Amino acid sequence: MPTPYVARRVAGLKPSGIRKFFDIVATMDDVISLGIGEPDFDTPPHILRAGIRALEQGATHYTSNAGLLELRQAISDHLEKLYGVRYNPQGEITVTVGVSEALYLAMTAVLNPGEEVIIPTPCFVSYQAEVILAGGVPVELPLSVENNFQLSAEMLEAAITPRTKAILIGYPNNPTGAVASREALLEVARVAEAHDLVVISDEIYDRLVYGVPHVCFASLPGMKKRTITLGGFSKAYAMTGWRIGYAAAPAEILGGLIRIHQYTIMSAPTAAQYAAIEALRHGEEAVESMRQEYDRRRKLIVGGLNDLGLSTIEPRGAFYAFPSIAVTGMDEETFAQKLLEEERVAVVPGSAFGPGGEGYVRCSYATAYEKIEQALERMARFMQRYG
Ligand SMILES: Cc1ncc(COP(=O)(O)O)c(C=O)c1O
Repeated sequence: MPTPYVARRVAGLKPSGIRKFFDIVATMDDVISLGIGEPDFDTPPHILRAGIRALEQGATHYTSNAGLLELRQAISDHLEKLYGVRYNPQGEITVTVGVSEALYLAMTAVLNPGEEVIIPTPCFVSYQAEVILAGGVPVELPLSVENNFQLSAEMLEAAITPRTKAILIGYPNNPTGAVASREALLEVARVAEAHDLVVISDEIYDRLVYGVPHVCFASLPGMKKRTITLGGFSKAYAMTGWRIGYAAAPAEILGGLIRIHQYTIMSAPTAAQYAAIEALRHGEEAVESMRQEYDRRRKLIVGGLNDLGLSTIEPRGAFYAFPSIAVTGMDEETFAQKLLEEERVAVVPGSAFGPGGEGYVRCSYATAYEKIEQALERMARFMQRYG
């Protein structure tokens, strides 16, 4: 019986399908985990030192609500250099506690009660919950492997209602590894324009692409005025524990996000902000060397899974492979559970990421090359029994 002391919209949230699974993993020995959604690398030493130095020099106080101006300037320079999109560091950028907080701010700032957000799925596990917490209604739009997990204007149009307020996209994608082509994003832009929608674009994996460019949604013609760009440091710079990210949007939208941020968070962690400045100014070499290592692992795992009969489209971004397990005849929950119990390899059932994930599992390659080799050997034994 749910307690009346907790609000219905909170009590009704589904527990994360990932957490449930990892509670089981935590009780077992000798597990090779392909389940983790964070870099196995530690933060590059020069970034770490910048954070420590800042603390030693007295960076133990609040910063301004929007974050250190120096960091906002560095983010602005970075977005302009990479994508040619210009955000004024004074009024168009706020530093947040990871993209997680930025998602919460964006939803809470944009949505009136009952307004709908179209969310292509499979997607990052927090998206639907963030919409619900903000009083909105998530409208899931399942994508499929047949079109490479890409969106089309037609699919979006079919999900539009008079209550639609926003579209939430996340490319490169967690869990599929899909990268949106410029053409696909132009279709999203067309629909957003036609129905006057806000586009919230989670670009946390922007730096982790392999042989294809990342297209920043706000850089598309006419799109900056209706886009909230979310970016972060957790993935590319291996800084998950520092809790730092940002939101960038036109001042009239960003003002709404900052108002919530100021009353709920005050300011993002100060030492982490100094570390983030160092990351943007001098982190390029480290990003590239981690990216190359992910790419090496990506080739290993995609080749390995396909050889086992677990058909996997080539992921061009992030650090996830998303194989179909159809050949085993099992559903994704059973597959993940049996693989864990019988061979001690942890993967995440695709359904944890929403509709469209049934029949798939997510395998993260943010783990050592040798561990991926061992995981594939164990999976080969498993597939001999069930393939
Ligand atoms: C697509 C996506 N967005 C946002 C986040 C949250 O990242 P952060 O550490 O910046 O809060 C994650 C983390 O896994 C993610 O995969």
